[in-house]
Amino acid sequence: MIFLFYYFMFCIILLLSLHFLFQTRRFKNLPPGPLSFPIIGNLHQFKQPLHRAFHAIAQKHGPIFSLWLGSRFVVVVSSYSAIQECFTKNDIIFANRPQFLTGKYIGYNNTTVVLASYGDHWRNLRRIMTLEVFSTHRINSFYEIRRDEIIRLIQKLAQDSPNGFAKVELKSRFSEMTFNIVMRLVSGKRYYGADCDVSDVEEAKQFRKIIKELVTLGGANNPGDFLTLLRWFDFDGLEKRLKRISTITDTFLQGLIEEHRNGKHDANTMIAHLLIQQQSQPEYYTDQIIKGLTLVMLLAGTDTSAVTLEWAMSNLLNHPETLKKAKKEIDTHIGQKSLVDESDIQNLPYLQSIIYETLRLHPAAPLLVPHLSSEDCTIGEYHIPRNTILLVNAWAIHRDPKSWSDPTHFKPERFENQDEANKLLPFGLGRRSCPGVNLAQRVISLTLALLIRCFEWKRISKEEIDMTEGKGLAVQKKFPLEAMCKVCQLPIFNDF
Ligand code: HEM
Repeated sequence: MIFLFYYFMFCIILLLSLHFLFQTRRFKNLPPGPLSFPIIGNLHQFKQPLHRAFHAIAQKHGPIFSLWLGSRFVVVVSSYSAIQECFTKNDIIFANRPQFLTGKYIGYNNTTVVLASYGDHWRNLRRIMTLEVFSTHRINSFYEIRRDEIIRLIQKLAQDSPNGFAKVELKSRFSEMTFNIVMRLVSGKRYYGADCDVSDVEEAKQFRKIIKELVTLGGANNPGDFLTLLRWFDFDGLEKRLKRISTITDTFLQGLIEEHRNGKHDANTMIAHLLIQQQSQPEYYTDQIIKGLTLVMLLAGTDTSAVTLEWAMSNLLNHPETLKKAKKEIDTHIGQKSLVDESDIQNLPYLQSIIYETLRLHPAAPLLVPHLSSEDCTIGEYHIPRNTILLVNAWAIHRDPKSWSDPTHFKPERFENQDEANKLLPFGLGRRSCPGVNLAQRVISLTLALLIRCFEWKRISKEEIDMTEGKGLAVQKKFPLEAMCKVCQLPIFNDF
């Protein structure tokens, strides 16, 4: 009996020592990091938002540090030189994605373009997206959709402020506009706004409900992703909810495909183009691939642009002198004769600088999307084992005083030298970087230009707009933006 007790104690001590040896990074020269507990690792140590918590750890352990999130080994990089290494010499190695429970249910078993492992399947999806959605030809062909939705937003704001300054809420307007743009581009349908097709009212309601749940569940934390033991239990019912929403979403998306098959829609939608390709290459354009791409466009391509617009307007309201300068640039370039158009944007460098500065301080995905190493490699002097989750703290890199003067202040003038924009990484780097960058920039630039041109803006009170971050798939403001707006008396409004 006594022998068994000593044997048991010996095993425990051995396990703890091994854990300690590994976790204190002496083993194989792993990046340094905070001490962790057996089993849970560092899981208990973080408060949201994670990018701020990771920034604090980097101050102590350096720009390449490691953690244990339960059983998953994670490396966080927060310096420009380190990420250069990740996305140049190690780009293919880090082109994988870790797989989580949410991806199983709302990412077609991790096969959508955002979540798929690096390989032929992912390459096929990127090729399809590049050809059918993001080629210059396609982006141009969707111009009328973008313009129409942006003008609707401007008209609605003008109607809501007919007699001088009126209080308006902007967050939901931006979100609805970006959903309408992407949904029309993908399927020809608009589901938000009082003027959505009356026959689609019930369907629109259902769509909005699905999206709300997808966004909530997509951002939910699942301890089972990190603690192997918990994988067998579904304590908070997350898996059950994911299963339910995945069935509802799939039925909805399949419905959109069938409507196209029955000829109910415009020929210039993403689904219509993919169905044409399906006829000659069915193995590359399956229904599941079309549904996955539709879902990704909606989840990756809507709130990211909407929150960027909200942060940009918040910054402008807190910096009236910047707003004035931007208005002057637009008025000087456009005159009184017309509205701003996409083709004018290249001649509005200050507007561009405002957008860069917004993306620098408020990247919608501050930790990008997690990457996973497919082989052992090195970053700096450190060994990175295979299957390490890599998180890039773009938020911290954008505020690094070694790269930016006065880094926490909103100063669009820093981008007068356009080369400075090359130091930004809100859309990621390397082969997994965002394919929607061009579309996002067009929508954000034109919306912002028209908001500045057509209205006078001021804050609701003397107090500055609260810039606290909230939660969400894309990092948004904690308190939805409200502002006072007054429509400008421009002759162009007669054209509406
Ligand atoms: C990936 C940011 C708009 C589609 C990403 C990533 C980031 C990002 C940080 C991950 C990069 C990485 O893994 O290193 C943004 C921001 C946007 C935006 C800040 C707007 C301001 C869009 C739009 C679309 C889109 C409009 C499409 C309609 C995608 C897709 C991926 C992606 C499909 C996955 C790429 C892959 O894994 O291969 N985006 N995005 N994004 N984004 Fe965007």
